Amino acid sequence: MNWPASVMIKEVGPRDGLQNEKVFVSTEDKIAWINQLSSTGLKYIEITSFVHPKWIPALSDAAEVAKGITRMPGVVYTALVPNRKGLERALESNIDEAAVFMSASETHNQKNINKSIEDTFPILREVVQQSLSAGKSTRGYISTVFGCPYEGIVHIEKVIRVSETLFEMGIGELSLGDTIGIANPKQVQEVLEVLLKRFPSDKFALHFHDTRGTALANILVSLDMGIASFDASLGGLGGCPYAPGASGNVSTDDLLYMLNGMGIHTGVDQEKLLSASRFIQDKIGRPLPSRSLQARGINK
Ligand code: HMG
Ligand code: MG
Repeated sequence: MNWPASVMIKEVGPRDGLQNEKVFVSTEDKIAWINQLSSTGLKYIEITSFVHPKWIPALSDAAEVAKGITRMPGVVYTALVPNRKGLERALESNIDEAAVFMSASETHNQKNINKSIEDTFPILREVVQQSLSAGKSTRGYISTVFGCPYEGIVHIEKVIRVSETLFEMGIGELSLGDTIGIANPKQVQEVLEVLLKRFPSDKFALHFHDTRGTALANILVSLDMGIASFDASLGGLGGCPYAPGASGNVSTDDLLYMLNGMGIHTGVDQEKLLSASRFIQDKIGRPLPSRSLQARGINK
């Protein structure tokens, strides 16, 4: 096995985790939760999303959250940014990094951001350029890399084309999204084999939703192929409202448990993380999918 010595866990719970929740977690509770996350040892937290508030009402308080949290030195606080208007709002709120996003499949791109893939490229190019000019790092996401809820199979050529274009714009890291949790380890290996012939492994993060219980298996294959950056969501919260059937991200608690057991360093404190999971579970008011919470008997 060829596992990395350390892994960067990118916590997307406050964004991906909350964006699909029916319950509106109050701004005060979001801030308190992010502050708890900051003290767990996590070095990267996606705190919110500067998309149109009508499209994602759960995160309509993005600016208040970004301005209200206590910034821990050494932690990167990032947010989703779909367009120039979103970047203006994000810069006013002093985020550290802008994360742009689009899909490999045409229909999901259209449903999610109301544009064709071709029309999305110039919009994201402008966001990346302006964000870099403002001294912020940028990240890209590609959704539906392993399958689309509307189109089914997504051919690898589409993923290559969007990857090449986003890298050429200047993004620092590309997160490959299994938006509806449909990937299996063999498919992950096949997709990564193709992409890693074109781009270095340290340019990628993997973003697995755990709809069918394959996320940790997919991460194991990715680790073996040299990937050392993974998105995860506390308690296993998450999902895209514009991708029918999408459920939560791989749970940060379970990912950390697995990596700790494998001797892979993350710098994250398991107990503090579980306590932050319990906090958000209480606010959401239903048991969260995290097996680690269940194992502790606190997922009730
Ligand atoms: P649109 O309606 O096409 O926007 O939405 P528009 O550019 O035509 O503008 C219409 C109006 O909206 C204008 O106002 C704009 O100013 C305003 P008006 O002139 O009519 O008064 N507007 C905005 N206001 C605030 N913030 C903004 C903004 N942009 C325009 N940023 C848009 C296009 C992209 C805005 C919309 O489709 C949208 O917000 N979509 C977001 C959907 C979303 O957040 N999906 C979930 C995140 S992606 C995901 O979960 C996948 C991921 O996790 C990876 C994976 O799992 O695969 C990342
Ligand atoms: Mg996602």
